[in-house]
Formats: sequence, structure tokens, C-alpha cells
Amino acid sequence: MSNIFPIQTKVTRAQRAELLQQKPLLIWFTGLSGSGKSTLAVQLEAVLHGKGYKTYLLDGDNIRAGINKDLSFTDADRIENIRRIGEVANLMLDAGVVVLSAFISPFQADRDQVKKIVGADSYFEVFVDTPLEVCEQRDVKGLYKKARAGEIKNFTGIDSAYEIPVSPDIIIQTHILSVNDSLDLLFSAVDKKIALRTS
Ligand code: ADX
Repeated sequence: MSNIFPIQTKVTRAQRAELLQQKPLLIWFTGLSGSGKSTLAVQLEAVLHGKGYKTYLLDGDNIRAGINKDLSFTDADRIENIRRIGEVANLMLDAGVVVLSAFISPFQADRDQVKKIVGADSYFEVFVDTPLEVCEQRDVKGLYKKARAGEIKNFTGIDSAYEIPVSPDIIIQTHILSVNDSLDLLFSAVDKKIALRTS
């Protein structure tokens, strides 16, 4: 990259976070379509907001309807999808916000890249480990049925890969745990990381 000269801001990331009284964190949900990522992210955001944290939720279907509407579900476009989300999340962390994201993000290399972009200390990975059979049985959006019928190509878990996370910070098995129990686990894990004061 040439002829690009980033400006130096007077207000630092630490100062923005201090004003908001929290430590910014990216809470990155990954898992199959229908695994429960969005449900958990939506509920966890509400819990965190209720405790006074300044949050923002980035969700696959919403982002793909807007900033990433030019992207498909080929491997190359999924990689670009996640790269852009990583950069957007990083800007939000810079602004001091606690960011939650819910994308399938099927490839380990892309999740690693997001972790690198935002910094390992600011990245908390949640593997929503719901078996394919359960997701397919739920089929909330009717997409698995279409994928099995060959009406949708490159569908994750059917004819496109999902790489199991190598070292997630937490694993949530939604076919075993209730939403409330999952939320309790998630809240106690992230609260420690985002609370500025321990009292
Ligand atoms: S990702 O693989 O690039 O991370 P993302 O989370 O943004 O995927 O989008 C996934 C959502 O798009 C799914 O929950 C589903 O509603 C929809 N979708 C449409 N086509 C596909 C497909 N071929 N594979 C997976 N999800 C799809």
C-alpha cells in the first residue's frame, strides 16, 4: 500500500474505553447455520446492555443485506466477508464498544486472521457446537431442505466445509444446555474480561 498516511488521533483507544467504563472485546460466535449463534448473541447483548455495557451486534444475515451485499457463499467471498467484518469490528473496538458477532465463519484461517486484526487480548471465541443433524432438524429458515434438494449450492455442512475451531475460548452445546444456562456461562466468562473495575 503506497501513498497512504494514517492520521494520529489525539484521543486514544484507552481513553475512549475509559470514558465508557469498559474494556472493549470482540465476542465472536462461530458455528453452523441454525446452531444458535444469533439467538445467543442477541440474548447476550441484551444481558450485557442491561448491566450497563455499551454493545453492538454484527449478524451474518444483516451484514450480508448491507455492507457485504456484493458477496456470495463461494469460499473466496466467505473469506472476504469475514475479513471485512474483522476490520469493522476492529473500528468498533477502537471506539470502545463491546462487539458481538454471529457469522458461520467456517474457516480456521479466517478466524485466526480476525484474531490477529483485533489482537488476541480483544478476541473471545464462542464455538456454538450444535451437531449438523440437530441444525438440520431445526431448519428454522428452511435452507437445509433446499440445500439437500440441490436448490442452494455451497451450503455449509452439506457441500461446503465447516472447520471445527482449534482453540475456542468457550464451547456451547445448545442441544444439551438451555438458552438461560448458556447465557449464564457466557456472561460470567465475558464479564471478567470487559469489566473495568472489579468492585
Ligand atoms: S459465512 O460463511 O460467510 O460466515 P454468514 O454467517 O455471513 O456466512 O451467513 C450465513 C447465513 O446466510 C446463514 O445463516 C443463512 O441464513 C444464509 N445462507 C444463504 N446461503 C447460504 C449458504 N450457501 N451457506 C451458508 N449459509 C447461507
